[in-house]
Amino acid sequence: MAETERNIPQHVAIIMDGNGRWAKKRGLPRTAGHYQGAKVVEQILEDADHMGIRYLTVYAFSTENWSRPQAEVKTLMNLLRTYMKTSLAKCAKNNVRIRVIGDKTRLDADLQEAIRNLEQDTRNNTGIGFQIAINYGGRDELRRAAAQIAQQVQEGVLRPEEITEETISDHLDTAGIPDPDLLIRTSGEERISNFLIWQCAYTEYYFTDVTWPDFNKEELEKAVDAYRHRERRMGGLMQ
Ligand code: FPP
Repeated sequence: MAETERNIPQHVAIIMDGNGRWAKKRGLPRTAGHYQGAKVVEQILEDADHMGIRYLTVYAFSTENWSRPQAEVKTLMNLLRTYMKTSLAKCAKNNVRIRVIGDKTRLDADLQEAIRNLEQDTRNNTGIGFQIAINYGGRDELRRAAAQIAQQVQEGVLRPEEITEETISDHLDTAGIPDPDLLIRTSGEERISNFLIWQCAYTEYYFTDVTWPDFNKEELEKAVDAYRHRERRMGGLMQ
């Protein structure tokens, strides 16, 4: 395998932070940061694919984000709506497979339908898997998984002693997707903020001061390089 391809993380997750600060620094409304952030998402997806990353998961809207000012929530939802409704052609061209993770039942009906269509229409694509977290919270995801498992126990399909870690993984929104190897958070915060808390048990974390709208291919390469150096140092001996 070529040197450049060695130890490329298979799955990269990103907490895209700092849209508001990016806008404020430029005297722009926060929403301008989100618009620029959405453009960066599309570019990074392409870059990640070219680098050989197989799965990319981004935190677009958390369960806590509903408490932001209504106008900002509306802007974010409209951005996501536009993305879901217009990105099919691009996904087909780039062979991208989309999955939305999070509780979709609280989203507007038309957005839910757009998500269903996009997931359905890209499900046989064999290129990069792109997971977008919308109305997502790690604890909420575990709560929903627990409720499904409890239901199976109640129906007699499953016995409590048969519940393994795999049973839980299989009931998460990310079922079937390998756990992230690398989690990137932009904009200087060093917290996981309820993102993929089960899946990130062994994940390497990478924090950068760069705000999300300024994030680019070079920054992604830096994060991947840091990951590869850590991999080499640990020699794969520790989990
Ligand atoms: C955090 O910045 C960012 C968000 C809450 C939203 C992220 C969403 C996008 C980039 C758009 C998603 C689009 C697609 C197509 C998936 P912040 O507002 O918390 O920034 P701050 O911490 O500087 O205030």
